[in-house]
Amino acid sequence: MRLQRIVGEDRAIRTNIYLRNALLGTAWSSRLEFPPGFQFGAATSSYQIEGGWDADGKGPSIWDRLFHSAANSGYFNQTGDVAADSYHQWRQDVKAAADMGLDFYRFSISWPRILPTGRTNVVSPAGVRYYSQLIDVLLAAGIKPVVTLYHFELPVTIQDLGGWTNPLIVDLFGEYARLVYSLYADRVDTWITINEGIVICDLTYNFGQFAPQIKEPTFAPFLCNKHVMLAHAKAYRIYDEEFRAKCGGKVSIANNLLWVEPVTPDDLELAELGRQHSIGRFSHPIFSKEGGWPPTTEKLMRAVSRREGYSQSRLPAFTDEEKKFVQGTADFFSLNHYTTSMIRPARAGEAPGTWFINGSAELNAVLEHPPGSTYGALDIMPIYPPGFRRLLNWVRQQYGDVEVFVSENGLATSGTNLEDHIRVDYLTRYMEQVLLAMEDGVRVTGYTVWSLIDNFEWFDGYNTKFGLYEVDFEDPARSRRPRLSAHHYACVIKHRRLKYPESCVQERRNGRR
Ligand code: BGC
Repeated sequence: MRLQRIVGEDRAIRTNIYLRNALLGTAWSSRLEFPPGFQFGAATSSYQIEGGWDADGKGPSIWDRLFHSAANSGYFNQTGDVAADSYHQWRQDVKAAADMGLDFYRFSISWPRILPTGRTNVVSPAGVRYYSQLIDVLLAAGIKPVVTLYHFELPVTIQDLGGWTNPLIVDLFGEYARLVYSLYADRVDTWITINEGIVICDLTYNFGQFAPQIKEPTFAPFLCNKHVMLAHAKAYRIYDEEFRAKCGGKVSIANNLLWVEPVTPDDLELAELGRQHSIGRFSHPIFSKEGGWPPTTEKLMRAVSRREGYSQSRLPAFTDEEKKFVQGTADFFSLNHYTTSMIRPARAGEAPGTWFINGSAELNAVLEHPPGSTYGALDIMPIYPPGFRRLLNWVRQQYGDVEVFVSENGLATSGTNLEDHIRVDYLTRYMEQVLLAMEDGVRVTGYTVWSLIDNFEWFDGYNTKFGLYEVDFEDPARSRRPRLSAHHYACVIKHRRLKYPESCVQERRNGRR
């Protein structure tokens, strides 16, 4: 929904708040407030904000190599070389987080910034110092660091050995994780090992656009899937055995959960298969009672592989030992959620849609957007808030009464736009669904906006903006300015509810708080 600007800024803001409250009015009850202890935060990732791509001896990642290649240099002519320059401007990020009153800031560590060769033979003192300072200054500002070890930035040296399709990655990731814990676990108590296996494996290898730009949809997504599970488990177990007693923190993996609905009641079973294929493959091995792949996915992959003439399933089996190694390796359920899709069988002659739920090639299904969807700047992400509540309930139904942490949720806009009413509206409506799911009994303990600041949105470049804070990419200092959504989020945090006194945003805008 887009709210009209009336006459003058103030009036527009008041109207926005009025409409927002009216909109919430129907489903809204005064009980729907965030409980004490609920944590609010915002997230970024290293390649998307840091810049300093080769500063102080940082090694190249697969993204540096990709955007420096001749084939990709014409792509908007944009790279993450400077991005929001958070490698130098990180104090501005801490200030933004503090201004909004965030409880935590989720950022990621660049593997090749800490380990330029990808291995622990060379540790970069500058890289170590960079994150150390960031952590210290966040803590001094009363903001908890939530640290992701891997947000798509593989050192090229490891890619050249096959990256996530080579089982060697399990030990290499373990080594890297151990080193990072040894540096920061005294000050960081919430860890996310790997961000979005489905992007690293399925999105990457099915299309061959994301780094490392290898298109091999037959085996690579599934080999990668297995190794992501094992690498995560390795990092979890290292924390558990070597750091937990001293540091007492928590570790999980952040999966991207697309909610899948059936187009017609006949597609109910297909929708569930779709969820298992996209969510279950990255969650079931860790969170289910039985461990291993979701049984329906395993069966599907066996049948598809047999039909294709393979003697074994393209989904590689876990040994019993591996199953046990992965099972139970999370202290909470961390999920990124943006959107909902509808699923139906592909018609004769129709190519199966293979966007996010990349298994739809195996499922022989097509994804559609919910009818009447509205959009931000990305037409692959329809806005459909009710899907979020259903998804959260599904997680509980599948994996039991697990603690749920929303590690990403947000909306893209484009161009210069400090008056991001559409983002205010998106965040409000999605947070409302979180509250409703909590009323249903889902144990959600935290919520994270993607993103703290505008950043490099991969192949969508700099014109696609996810930030609560706008970044001026023309300004050498990459100055940051709060959008309306930043004020809104700050007011939600301050009042711990989505409905707050209208004066809150005004006072923030006038610099009075
Ligand atoms: C990823 C981010 C990305 C965001 C918006 C998430 O799936 O973790 O890296 O910027 O989506 O597309």
